[in-house]
Amino acid sequence: RLITILNGPNLNLLGKRQPHIYGHDTLETVETNCRAAAPEGFEIRLRQSNHEGELVDWIHEARETSCGIAINAGAYTHTSVAILDALNTFEGPVIEVHISNVHKRESFRHHSYISLRADGVIVGFGIEGYEAAVRRIANIVKAAA
Ligand code: DQA
Repeated sequence: RLITILNGPNLNLLGKRQPHIYGHDTLETVETNCRAAAPEGFEIRLRQSNHEGELVDWIHEARETSCGIAINAGAYTHTSVAILDALNTFEGPVIEVHISNVHKRESFRHHSYISLRADGVIVGFGIEGYEAAVRRIANIVKAAA
């Protein structure tokens, strides 16, 4: 069973981008850690795009391939009805992840369109949040089986 982990704009620069906020670890480390955290029988596909429509396409693809989605939509979190609509077409568990504590930051980061669909939200746990999302998705999927 496949868990898709989607990352939005600027997260390709994770590790280099504002490390005082997002830390020094890269998205490759996130991928390695998530593979290690995935229980037996679960695989990980981690993707990143700076383009809203590509994220929408990958959510549609996940409808056919994946049992759950973990998503850090980056700044699209706060703007994208299109990503919310796409997630609303997905039937499995959706967990929203933010590396930083968005509630401690500018007020425009306090609202999330993704939260209107997410089954859980992990905020401010650094990159550990992705591993927690993987474990949570696996537990939800196992409990439903
Ligand atoms: C982020 C928080 C967003 O507000 C920001 O635009 C990001 C990253 C986070 O992981 O903390 O790009 O989603």
